[in-house]
Amino acid sequence: MKEGGNSRFIFLGRSHCAALTVFPALGLRKDDLCNRGRRRFRWSCPIRKFMTRERVFSGIQPSGGVTLGNYLGAIRNWERLQHQNYDCIYCMVDLHAITVWQDPKLLADQTRQVTAALLASGIDPNISIVFHQSAVPEHAQLAWILNCVARLGWLNRMTQFKEKAGKDREKVSLGLYAYPALQAADVLIYHAHQVPVGEDQKQHVELMRDIGQKFNHDFGVDFFPLPNAMIFGGSTRVMSLRDGRKKMSKSDPSEMSRINMTDDADAIAQKIRKAKTDAATLPGPEVVGDDGKISTEIEEARPEAFNLLRIYSTLSDRSMASILAEFEGKGFGDFKPALADLAIEKLGGISAEMRRLESDPAEIDRVLAEGAIKARRITAPILEEIYRIVGFLKA
Ligand code: TYM
Repeated sequence: MKEGGNSRFIFLGRSHCAALTVFPALGLRKDDLCNRGRRRFRWSCPIRKFMTRERVFSGIQPSGGVTLGNYLGAIRNWERLQHQNYDCIYCMVDLHAITVWQDPKLLADQTRQVTAALLASGIDPNISIVFHQSAVPEHAQLAWILNCVARLGWLNRMTQFKEKAGKDREKVSLGLYAYPALQAADVLIYHAHQVPVGEDQKQHVELMRDIGQKFNHDFGVDFFPLPNAMIFGGSTRVMSLRDGRKKMSKSDPSEMSRINMTDDADAIAQKIRKAKTDAATLPGPEVVGDDGKISTEIEEARPEAFNLLRIYSTLSDRSMASILAEFEGKGFGDFKPALADLAIEKLGGISAEMRRLESDPAEIDRVLAEGAIKARRITAPILEEIYRIVGFLKA
């Protein structure tokens, strides 16, 4: 299902069916009808009814550099999904980034840099829609409505808010608190089905299901499909190189805690050499269960060691058992140089391509602008439907 055409819905009557003009982006045809009863009406959503492929949506904050965690937990999976039976939409979520202070002089370049990371990782703007969030106003417009649907108690449970706000809760922005409602809008405004993310985003995806369900219930409609978190691959939670119990994060004050996609070979080798480990040798493949997993007990006893092993396994696309068979009985003096060589081999090409792309900011801006046009072909008619459901008068 490819994008194209500038079509829209034409509603013939206030309370009955609607005829649709051609809307190729959604696979809709003229005269496709939707049923709309009277008062406490139920809508069978015309947009969803005619979608032939599942839609994937995901986002990344341009709030700093892109880390190995972002790459292995998300971007690499996004690249693979675009070659499967999905329509993929990937977004630089700059509205989310400003929930904590961003220097306006840097934000635009950070947005370009994150876009460059996606493109350099193989995300193809001719296959996927690639754009920045502030260029598609329907995200923020739906977010306001969802702010009125989501309950305070739900947001109070969000662990990411608690972590980010820390002890100084009174001083953080209102936006940081409402962040998950905007994230729900990001996905629901596309009627997306699948949300490929790292493990840290699981709770936010569960919340978007709750919000979508409450909207459907409150307005008596079957409008929003409830999205699923797609958490897959060998590195759904890449940990800090300095502390195996903390997530690798772009906001960690220690540069040595993470590998950035812009790091050169020397920096990657140095960070891996200095990564925290332990004195024991590596175990054999017998620690891997029949399901291919290692028990939490075993992993928790050596979090740093298993973090590095998982990174190796994911980067090499090899099973943990085959890696342990190769390195069994060896220490980190042997394993770390092998990991550094692998990381340099796999990431070196991406960071060189990022540098090439970043040297032509106008081209990145062109890709984003084109992506925003494609995105709005989907979001504008869906928002129109939402406004009608909510009872807003047509402007
Ligand atoms: P963000 O910008 O923190 O991260 C982008 C993606 O990278 C994943 N990720 C990781 N995966 C494994 N290990 C890590 N250490 C690691 N660090 C980050 C994240 O899980 C994420 O998939 N709230 C989101 C952005 C967002 C979004 C959305 C995502 C806004 N709207 C709608 C999905 C759908 C965030 O802050 O991601």
